[in-house]
Amino acid sequence: MKRLVVLVFSLWIVLAFTIASQVGASELGASELHEGSQIFTTHCVGCHVNGGNIVRRGKTLKLKALQKNQMDSIPAIVDIVTNGKANMSAYRDRLTEHEIQVVAAYVLERAEQNWKPD
Ligand code: HEC
Repeated sequence: MKRLVVLVFSLWIVLAFTIASQVGASELGASELHEGSQIFTTHCVGCHVNGGNIVRRGKTLKLKALQKNQMDSIPAIVDIVTNGKANMSAYRDRLTEHEIQVVAAYVLERAEQNWKPD
């Protein structure tokens, strides 16, 4: 019985992953996803580790918080990253427009997958 549960669960993971990667691929290519991940690690992870927010607890990068705060779109994330907000500084001098687009898409993509480990 336990083995069956494990088997079904593994199949589910594989399936979920296949679907997720197909959906992801249509929005963001694998190389851009990788680029987004690197930008995030360099510039954002200090405050947003695992999609959280160590400075303001309610303003995480989890899908629920993004939706609640009207941050669940690429333009909204591009805007906050470009111009900053409250304790989050602006990145317009540190990142190119392209980099901001890519990291915004990356954040949304990870949020949609509930920040599960890669
Ligand atoms: C110095 C800490 C810090 C860093 C570094 C940082 N942020 Fe933030 N971030 C914050 C804070 C604080 C807020 C909440 C701002 C507010 O008061 O609305 C926030 C909010 C956000 C939000 C909106 C979240 C919500 O639920 O409303 C997004 C999206 C976001 N940050 C993305 C990023 C990205 C992408 C990077 C890297 C380019 C980044 N942040 C770097 C501190 C930081």
